[in-house]
Amino acid sequence: MPDECSRKVLVTGATGQIGSELIPELRKRYGKRNVVAVGHRRRPSEDMLRSGPYEEVDLMDEAAVTDVLRRHEINTVYHLAAILSAVGEKDPQIAWKVNMLSLTNMLEGARKNDVKRMFWPSSIAVFGPTSPRTNTPQDTVLLPTSMYGVTKVAGELLCNYYASKYGLDVRSVRFPGIISSETLPGGGTTDYAVEIFYEAIRQGRYRCFLRKDTTLPMLYQPDCIKCAIGIMEAPCDKVRRHDGYNVTGMSFSAGELADEIRKYVPSLEVTYAPDHRQEIADSWPMSMDDSIARKDWGWAPDHDLASMTKDMMDRLTPRLKKGKR
Ligand code: SER
Repeated sequence: MPDECSRKVLVTGATGQIGSELIPELRKRYGKRNVVAVGHRRRPSEDMLRSGPYEEVDLMDEAAVTDVLRRHEINTVYHLAAILSAVGEKDPQIAWKVNMLSLTNMLEGARKNDVKRMFWPSSIAVFGPTSPRTNTPQDTVLLPTSMYGVTKVAGELLCNYYASKYGLDVRSVRFPGIISSETLPGGGTTDYAVEIFYEAIRQGRYRCFLRKDTTLPMLYQPDCIKCAIGIMEAPCDKVRRHDGYNVTGMSFSAGELADEIRKYVPSLEVTYAPDHRQEIADSWPMSMDDSIARKDWGWAPDHDLASMTKDMMDRLTPRLKKGKR
């Protein structure tokens, strides 16, 4: 694998929840010119445009994917672009097409164009109602009931196949819900855990689309970025599997999160009106066993519910009070 100075990185999903914060961090580490941001449709921020190369690429078009990999002589890919669980359930056929075709195009592009290493996020959505829901083990039944989950299981199998058949060093983790302060998530079941902060600060009230007792595993964005970079920089002999490693930072229910936010906004009122996303949440783990990632490549998150909530409030309160997004 190229050392840090010779990394040429491409990141898809540049304007999304993870990409918008991963790219600045990668540009800091490997140099601005060496990290190509790839977006589609959503307008990137001025900072993203100013701080390094930005390309608009239709990931459904294999030739376009190959072209961008070749032109920038890419050797490392973070392929983040995907349709998330709640949006995916509204149009499952589109979710399958977008998630699988963009992944197969990227895997093929990587294999044929000398890409050495690729990160692709899997998800807690690989699990389903027949998997154990507490302390969900790394290796267990994977029978998801959401189309998003189906694409994540298929994607894990495909990544593992490309690693064993072609030696493409694909690395993956099963992300839980990601909580972040810079870019809103786009259409997932865990999005409530971000929205509640915005509404608590702006309005002092929030209507939650999940039940109060719904417990899900979560990860704070700085840990998410640390995790993605951590697994990609780990020596080859430490990353022993090429499906998805379980990773987690914390687990809490919607009610517990509301109580933690009340330490900062005591008058916060939350009502619970579960919608179609409740069924998805009920099929997912409540907590995860990530001991294998810890043991293999040293995964260790820094944030728990209290420190995440404090940091989110510190970041969002001044910004939202000024009326910014
Ligand atoms: N945050 C994602 C979702 O809710 C889970 O991977 O869809």
